[in-house]
Amino acid sequence: MKILFATSNQHKFEEAAAYLAGRGIQLERFPIEHREMRSESLEEIARDAARFAFKKCKKPVFVEDAGLFISALNGFPGTYSAWVQKKLGNAGILKLMAGAPDRSAYFEACIAYHDGKRISCFSGRCPGSISEGARGASGFGYDPIFVPEGYPQTFAENILLKNNISHRYKSLLEFSKSLEP
Ligand code: IMP
Repeated sequence: MKILFATSNQHKFEEAAAYLAGRGIQLERFPIEHREMRSESLEEIARDAARFAFKKCKKPVFVEDAGLFISALNGFPGTYSAWVQKKLGNAGILKLMAGAPDRSAYFEACIAYHDGKRISCFSGRCPGSISEGARGASGFGYDPIFVPEGYPQTFAENILLKNNISHRYKSLLEFSKSLEP
């Protein structure tokens, strides 16, 4: 089975392709630059992007929207994660978190799949915390400052672990189950 993933993020594509290949699903990348709508809801953003992607490629296609939600910052950067990563980076987040006793956070991903008739959504969440400093060189985005619950390393220090427990992995798992005959 072959399926289109509309994304401009090569890292996301590689993580999804590696996971889905193991389930017999071949991914093809549909590169789109879509100006994301503003919303507090990952699902609303993902649904909007799936509609846009389907209009462009006219084939069954999925998109994924993700974000990092930090408790001490009332869920910030959340659905603004891409913009904040560009403007403040991990150093900016660590500065905002300086001295914060509660470092808990979670990643969430929402896949929206447009099959030509309707859009279905699949979410995955990975709980963890924000490290005191950036650590590790793998992955992308906030990976060097995110420590998944129950493990000592950041995602960027242990990318194999990330691929087995992440928000993306969990959303892909639900999505791939829905494709089973
Ligand atoms: P979007 O889903 O493309 O809007 O991405 C949101 C932003 O969150 C990205 O630009 C990354 O900075 C960050 N992000 C999303 N997923 C991950 C991840 O798996 N690890 C680290 N950062 C991520």
